Amino acid sequence: MQFKSIKTTDLTSCDCLCIAMYSDQPLSYLVTDKTMYDMLVDKGVRKIIEQGDFTGDLAQAHLHTITDDGSQIKRFLLIGLGKFKKLDAKNYDKIVDTTVNTLSSLSVENICINFFSQLAPNIEMPFMLQQMAFKFVRHRYQFNEQVATQNIDCYPPKEKKDKSNNTLQTIKCTIPDNGLTNQQADQALTLGAKLGEGVNTARFLGDLPANICTPTYLADYAQTMGKQYDSLQVRIKDEEALAKLGMEVFLSVGRGSIEESKFIEIEYTPKTKKAKDAPIILVGKGVTFDTGGISLKPSAGMDEMKYDMCGAASVMGTMRFLAETNVCQNRIIGIIPATENMPSDCATKPGDVFKSYSGQTVEVLNTDAEGRLILADSLSYAEETYQPRKMINIATLTGACIIALGNHRSAVMSNDDELANELMNVGQSVLDPCWQLPLDDEYDELLHSNFADMANIGGRAAGSITAGCFLKRFVKNTKWAHLDIAGVAWLEGKKKGATGRPVPLLANWLLKQNKS
Ligand code: BES
Ligand code: MN
Ligand code: ZN
Repeated sequence: MQFKSIKTTDLTSCDCLCIAMYSDQPLSYLVTDKTMYDMLVDKGVRKIIEQGDFTGDLAQAHLHTITDDGSQIKRFLLIGLGKFKKLDAKNYDKIVDTTVNTLSSLSVENICINFFSQLAPNIEMPFMLQQMAFKFVRHRYQFNEQVATQNIDCYPPKEKKDKSNNTLQTIKCTIPDNGLTNQQADQALTLGAKLGEGVNTARFLGDLPANICTPTYLADYAQTMGKQYDSLQVRIKDEEALAKLGMEVFLSVGRGSIEESKFIEIEYTPKTKKAKDAPIILVGKGVTFDTGGISLKPSAGMDEMKYDMCGAASVMGTMRFLAETNVCQNRIIGIIPATENMPSDCATKPGDVFKSYSGQTVEVLNTDAEGRLILADSLSYAEETYQPRKMINIATLTGACIIALGNHRSAVMSNDDELANELMNVGQSVLDPCWQLPLDDEYDELLHSNFADMANIGGRAAGSITAGCFLKRFVKNTKWAHLDIAGVAWLEGKKKGATGRPVPLLANWLLKQNKS
């Protein structure tokens, strides 16, 4: 699929011309080009509106097919934008979904979208273009386990030969003469398309079953990415190397599994002066399957614990976005502690005490609170090794987070309110929202242990927050935020599948850091 911006007057022919209309503005409001307007009148589009068959209500779609053979454009898809003043990012996203779903179900190759000729008050043009391209690419995702089992080098993922989903080739977006330049518009389209690929990478890894997606698979996948892109360098540490470093707390989680734990580092180096500056670090929880260990989980729905590496998958997807676009000007390091949490004769037992990389000791009262253990050592190691400017970890960390925020917002916890606000603002604007939870000392006290510096659980109350407090103890003086994505990383039921969140949040936040 190719995305391109054009000036309205450059429109010659396409399989389908997609026209938008506000419900409280005339057709001519967005069809500013006289030639195009005359064509719409000529082809009966105005008539459809006059008859009341198309009103421009939010996300309304009306397909108009031309039967006379002489027409260069055979189809007109009319899309409703709703009320002019009500068009914001959320409503626009509904409009995009309708547009993408309808166009993807048609047998068309080249389409032109004429949405962008006038600014609406509550939404920005670059976002509109980015989101359009993003959703077209995102829509193409289809899980294909054959590719996954045969070949680690499965990027770009092979698409199922399914005509209805596979014919789109060129998507042109018309832009007005007096707004963005073609270059700016194309940049927004490219960012959106590449964001879609990053999200689909995360979805693919998340959806893979745990017998394929092991810690070793994740390490191999990262190494393959390292070979694919000049800007990425990948380093893998095995259990022996981790033991030498003193990451006992991380290693305690994988002790019950036959699969070897891996510590994956993916470094993105920009082609800018900032290449040597302190990096920004993303740490993603990579528990490829979480049985709970000796504190075994109930069996109902346990298959979903293959998604317990969605934090890792979001880091991988974000690194792919960075390498594909090469527009991020900072050095970024993605870190993935990868392991499998299993019960066995060698598994950690409740009450076992381990010494962390930081030197603090941890009493493991519940082996199912394993995510914080692998993150703790990763955060301390990352801070000490790289002295980052900022550090964010992403994890399907607590069931309690789903109770608190449901499946809509991620939770963000931070030792720096400014950073938490940045994340909330970016999340809001790119429709990958998160909400801050507090990390007061009163909560931290719940981690008290009589036998070590701390316990790994704080009891039933404020479960997401005590997990956040635990992590905070392993970050000394770096601006740090923790994203708990337990509620948003995958969908359940009939639509079961990974969402690729929070790649949109992470990718857009990283681009914002170019300015600082
Ligand atoms: N991976 C789970 C959290 C989780 C559960 C995410 C369900 C999404 C859906 C995590 O490792 C875990 O088991 N957390 C425990 C912590 C508890 C033992 C303090 C939990 O949330 O029950
Ligand atoms: Mn667990
Ligand atoms: Zn877990």
